[in-house]
Amino acid sequence: MGSLLTVWIAFWSLILISASANDVSTARQSSLSPFSAMFVFGDSLVDNGNNNYLTSFAKANFVPYGIDTSWGPTGRFSNGKMLVDLLCEFLGHPYLPSFVATQKQGINITGGVNYASAAAGILDETGRYLGQRITFNEQVQNFQTTINQLKATMNDMNLSQYLAKSLALVNHGSNDYLNNYLLSGLYSSSFLYDPTAYADILIKQYKTYILSLHDLGLRKFLLAALGPLGCIPNQISRGFFPTGACKDEVNAMVTLFNDRLKSLVDELNAQYNGSSIFVYGNAFAVLMQIIQDPIAYGFVTTNRACCGIGRFRGMISCLPYSIPCSNRDQYVFWDAFHPSEAVDKILALKAFNGSTSDIYPVNVSQIAIMF
Ligand SMILES: *[C@@H]1O[C@H](CO)[C@@H](O)[C@H](O)[C@H]1NC(C)=O
Ligand SMILES: *[C@@H]1O[C@H](CO)[C@@H](O)[C@H](O)[C@H]1NC(C)=O
Ligand SMILES: *[C@@H]1O[C@H](CO)[C@@H](O)[C@H](O)[C@H]1NC(C)=O
Ligand SMILES: *[C@@H]1O[C@H](CO)[C@@H](O)[C@H](O)[C@H]1NC(C)=O
Ligand SMILES: *[C@@H]1O[C@H](CO)[C@@H](O)[C@H](O)[C@H]1NC(C)=O
Repeated sequence: MGSLLTVWIAFWSLILISASANDVSTARQSSLSPFSAMFVFGDSLVDNGNNNYLTSFAKANFVPYGIDTSWGPTGRFSNGKMLVDLLCEFLGHPYLPSFVATQKQGINITGGVNYASAAAGILDETGRYLGQRITFNEQVQNFQTTINQLKATMNDMNLSQYLAKSLALVNHGSNDYLNNYLLSGLYSSSFLYDPTAYADILIKQYKTYILSLHDLGLRKFLLAALGPLGCIPNQISRGFFPTGACKDEVNAMVTLFNDRLKSLVDELNAQYNGSSIFVYGNAFAVLMQIIQDPIAYGFVTTNRACCGIGRFRGMISCLPYSIPCSNRDQYVFWDAFHPSEAVDKILALKAFNGSTSDIYPVNVSQIAIMF
């Protein structure tokens, strides 16, 4: 018994060590995917390790992050797999390497790259007080670096086909609220702009980056809406007498952004009809349904993080060696800012095969077979 246990522990330690030393992306290769590659631009909701290499307070490469994976902590801000990992699984696509890992470790980039960086936003200044982060602007430049690398392995004709058959996933904007507009002590944006003007500024900048990615050859875009940020433990724990209820004024700001993002999708689809597709992933609606009717989705706790400290475990986010809750699948929120793997699974499934109220105007399984 004793020696079996030792072998068992040694086996898992090896798996954990090798998984965190190498990049998870190499662990799984598949040719079933309808997309030649996937390219991910975003923040901590989709960062899979880029911030591990940066000097930043926004990091998740320590336990208990990754507690429900065989990988252990990888820099993913979750107890388990994240939205992009799960979407890759639904599609039969290999997991993506982080951009920084592709540069430092020479990982194969053929299946795509994840450029996302925790604390980053649409505006360059967003998240600055947390240290280094790769802004949306820099993420677009890093994509150009990847293209230059790909040019060494294929001719221009093949490259443009390859990019046209790739999926771009963009998840940006949360930090422009959480780590900018809503921090009036650190940022002047809320003094300079009312929420409507601010949403206009964000979308204008966002559109510029989307068009840059389009100019570089991407044709299939999944643009994620912002979730109900007024409901995350970080927000509901703020103020003098927090009740645990969602902050409606924050959700209203987010809705101004989301409405404009959906209009942008309509505008771009009309402009590039037949040659490109832009879809709006309605994370706000999906999360609101879960928060308003948790039991229907198998959840119990909606207004308290699984890992964290203070009111609603949302005042200080999950720290190294914190002891998280044990029933993680029943929590909507893993930490003060990020949903649990169980929620990301629902979001990924809805993105892959949801109806138009979840993802508009078509879902990812439809995008996969277009053009
Ligand atoms: C990367 O992987 C692809 C498919 O698995 C292969 O065709 C290609 O040669 C590899 N590229 C490099 C540079 O190793
Ligand atoms: C690129 O396209 C040519 C035809 O134009 C084809 O013969 C070749 O195999 C392709 N190369 C790669 C790396 O896909
Ligand atoms: C694209 O063009 C088709 C055919 O002309 C039309 O039916 C469809 O409504 C157009 N889609 C958009 C988003 O404009
Ligand atoms: C996608 O959704 C449709 C409609 O709800 C359902 O019939 C189908 O089985 C689903 N497909 C997958 C692969 O989940
Ligand atoms: C997702 O799109 C596919 C392909 O068009 C469709 O068959 C399926 O019904 C859609 N899923 C839902 C839930 O509407």
